[in-house]
Amino acid sequence: MSNFHTIFEAAIQQLGGREAVQKLLSVGASALSNYRQRAQIPAAKRAKLEEALAAKGWHLDLEGLQLTPLSQARQQRILLLITGGIAAYKALDLSRRLMDRGYQIRGVMTRSAMEFITPLSLSALTGEKVYSDLFSLTDEAEMGHIRLARDADLVLVAPATANFIAKMAHGLADDLASTICLATDCPVMIAPAMNPNMWAHPATRANLDILIKRGAGLIAPEDGDTACGEIGTGRLADPQVIISAIDARLARHSAGADSPLQGKHILITSGPTFEPIDPVRYVGNHSSGKQGHALAAACARKGAKVTLVTGPVHLADPDQVEVIKIQTAKQMYDACMAQLPVDCAICAAAVADWHVVNGGQQKIKKTAKGTPQLALAENPDILASLSQHENRPSLVIGFAAETENLAEYARAKRARKKCDWIVANQVGGTGEAGVFGQDSNHVTIIDGDGMQDWPRASKKEIADKLVQKIEAWFHDHKR
Ligand code: C5P
Repeated sequence: MSNFHTIFEAAIQQLGGREAVQKLLSVGASALSNYRQRAQIPAAKRAKLEEALAAKGWHLDLEGLQLTPLSQARQQRILLLITGGIAAYKALDLSRRLMDRGYQIRGVMTRSAMEFITPLSLSALTGEKVYSDLFSLTDEAEMGHIRLARDADLVLVAPATANFIAKMAHGLADDLASTICLATDCPVMIAPAMNPNMWAHPATRANLDILIKRGAGLIAPEDGDTACGEIGTGRLADPQVIISAIDARLARHSAGADSPLQGKHILITSGPTFEPIDPVRYVGNHSSGKQGHALAAACARKGAKVTLVTGPVHLADPDQVEVIKIQTAKQMYDACMAQLPVDCAICAAAVADWHVVNGGQQKIKKTAKGTPQLALAENPDILASLSQHENRPSLVIGFAAETENLAEYARAKRARKKCDWIVANQVGGTGEAGVFGQDSNHVTIIDGDGMQDWPRASKKEIADKLVQKIEAWFHDHKR
């Protein structure tokens, strides 16, 4: 399995060895071993490294822990929805140009679009199957419509007819293309093409206003002669204009610029707590902090202000995150309370339930009097306190590590602690079945609507998916 160490070493090899990399980054040998040990490279040095690797044909992804040939770096996927106007034929040229630009195109056509062009011509151009039928068993077996909607980085409706825009605005889902618009959680861009009067009609304007307010991007039509012989605004935008708008939107999206988490303050707890027995011993647990730290990094990538309160872990501080390092549950509690009010709290730490009340100020010695009896007292419950605080964050998420009866215990925990969601995982197994210290995780989310079981994935992927769910929540609860 890849880790920072192996990827870093592979990158060094590709760049001609240690000395060459030291020279490239203008650092000494100790800096390199420092980066390796902390599993982190300062942003400026990292950029240099990426640039030098790209010049040699390699794509370095330190978050995803991958070093791949540039030719294999993941292409961004555009789901092109073609609706039925005369401009549909222009979608063929558009799709070819988008592919030249490096995008992967998958096409979906409405029934009326097929009056103008055939799925065969689009599929010949894109090299991908073209989908059109919501109720086709073959299509559903190959690629369910929900997966089709979610598998894309961006949904582009081009050309978008007045009718389709109206359907999108009102949430109709009576064919595959409109169903995708409802099911997708990626950015949606609309390039309308229609008769100038239809474009100017207050109904079309109102529908577009609704869609823009919901976050859709509009690539406005151009002035000129339209297919119906009238002159005015309504021609599908020039392909180059569409491509530039898509480039910009995807760049903004991956930088988190259009995320509802932008500027939100998110408090995250991570790692174990250590409860001292005496100055050299403690009661602790096996939490590595990987999931909590991955969540902090994912929230920061979306432009949130993140405060990470962490127990002792062997992990680098995530970029762009305020990190408060604590040892005990009481310190974690105090640090969290001092952050309030915040918009969202995610309690991913494995907080010790008890602390030792009769520990030693000095190291406890073995004596003839026998084994010391440790007395324990309960720690404050940070998750429950945040959930019931007068300054309660709008969204409070807890974790539950259970060794049995996962769903039942997690549901009870959600009710008892009064948090909004519980991310539950089964612990106690070994290897892949375990969670502590592993790079992957298998979680079940319990929220007000029920339960969702997510497939096993890396902790980074789980973090990204949970952040998407949090984004959707903030999107729906916009004030
Ligand atoms: O009660 P239990 O420890 O199983 O609950 C787990 C959840 O509660 C986790 O989200 C954990 O971070 C949180 N917790 C807490 N403070 C405690 C104990 C647990 O925030 N003292």
